[in-house]
Amino acid sequence: MFSKAFFAIAALAVTVSAVPSPSAVCSGGRRASSKACCVWFDVLDDLQENLFDGGECGEETHESLRLTFHDAIGFSPKLFREGKFGGGGADGSIMHFADIETNFHANGGVDDIVETQRPFALAHGVSFADFIQFAGAVGVSNCAGGPRLQFLAGRSNVTKPSPDLLVPEPSDDNDKIFARMSDAGFSPNEVVDLLISHTVAAQDHVDASIPGTPLDSTPGSFDSQFFVETLLQGTLFPGNGSNVGEVMSPLGGELRLFSDNNIARDARTACEWQSFITDHSLMVTKFETVMAKLATLGHNPRTLTDCSEVIPVPAAMKLPAATLPAGKSLADVEGACAATPFPALSAAPGPATTVAPVPPS
Ligand code: HEM
Ligand SMILES: *[C@@H]1O[C@H](CO)[C@@H](O)[C@H](O)[C@H]1NC(C)=O
Ligand SMILES: *[C@@H]1O[C@H](CO)[C@@H](O)[C@H](O)[C@H]1NC(C)=O
Repeated sequence: MFSKAFFAIAALAVTVSAVPSPSAVCSGGRRASSKACCVWFDVLDDLQENLFDGGECGEETHESLRLTFHDAIGFSPKLFREGKFGGGGADGSIMHFADIETNFHANGGVDDIVETQRPFALAHGVSFADFIQFAGAVGVSNCAGGPRLQFLAGRSNVTKPSPDLLVPEPSDDNDKIFARMSDAGFSPNEVVDLLISHTVAAQDHVDASIPGTPLDSTPGSFDSQFFVETLLQGTLFPGNGSNVGEVMSPLGGELRLFSDNNIARDARTACEWQSFITDHSLMVTKFETVMAKLATLGHNPRTLTDCSEVIPVPAAMKLPAATLPAGKSLADVEGACAATPFPALSAAPGPATTVAPVPPS
């Protein structure tokens, strides 16, 4: 009797201590693993209310996610090996030195979100580097079927401007993109994993005559449609014609990047690309993994504090399976994975799909 109770208590104690118990109570009674994480709950509330329009996956979310990349990818071990400064990675330099970096050609359009975000970072006294990665992670958690990204805090607020020419351009060929990304530590398949971001994306500057034109038909949803639609035969330019970094897209109101088109069809990456079409949970997991790497470029993650508990858990939802847009058939697919045939998707019913722009907010 005694020993039975003793073992029950002992087992309970083990269970409790095995769960990492949040030790700090933050605003609104929310719990964090460390007191240092509490400030991020306040940033979270402010962002959801005042930047993301109450928790939407709209223009500011898309721009904030893009900014995580444009800050972090300013990191080149190759330049360091040549005795030059190769950039600080996810160091906030794009906000500290916006006057320099937002003028880099590949950073066209990021000045808007940098200036929109800056007052939030200043108001909460957090580093620009942490803020940029946090805003991207919170934003994308608002997208239907979205990931819950890791968030580590503690990046320094002191850095130097990134060198130019480290951010890939949509007009770059695959060898150039893969070489640049490999310098920063990403394999070709990991480039595909990063491009999952383009499932919640629109363009303003490739064809400036049609701002808000999405890269897939569902820019508010973290679904697999981007990977289907980029493999359809291109038939039209959605705007005023062929611009640098653009190729024909399959749908009115949708723009296809030259780089996305080529990476979808490259023998090195076509199977990774196609694999996400029928496996949304694989897509989410791969994105979470590769974003943890992107967000800590230039840092030793062990020197940072894990505040991931602050990132909202995306609403559980079952997304509709990927489909061929209405008006398309398997004959329009340019499948490029040699190992596995393109999946036998059905086409959505109804007249040919036209995609609506992402409204500015
Ligand atoms: C090969 C690398 C990449 C290239 C060449 C590229 C290129 C582009 C271009 C040209 C745009 C349209 C920008 C505009 O005209 O406003 C865009 C949008 C976007 N990109 Fe990328 N990108 C790359 C990788 C990434 C990565 C790694 C991320 C994030 C992890 C990302 C996230 C986004 C998002 C979210 C948008 C939509 C922005 C908005 O709707 O305002 N991209 N990308
Ligand atoms: C970060 O640096 C900027 C200048 O680039 C400064 O205005 C801001 O107050 C700094 N924030 C913190 C938390 O030190
Ligand atoms: C499309 O419009 C942009 C300006 O919005 C211009 O720079 C570009 O040359 C135009 N392209 C074509 C093919 O007309």
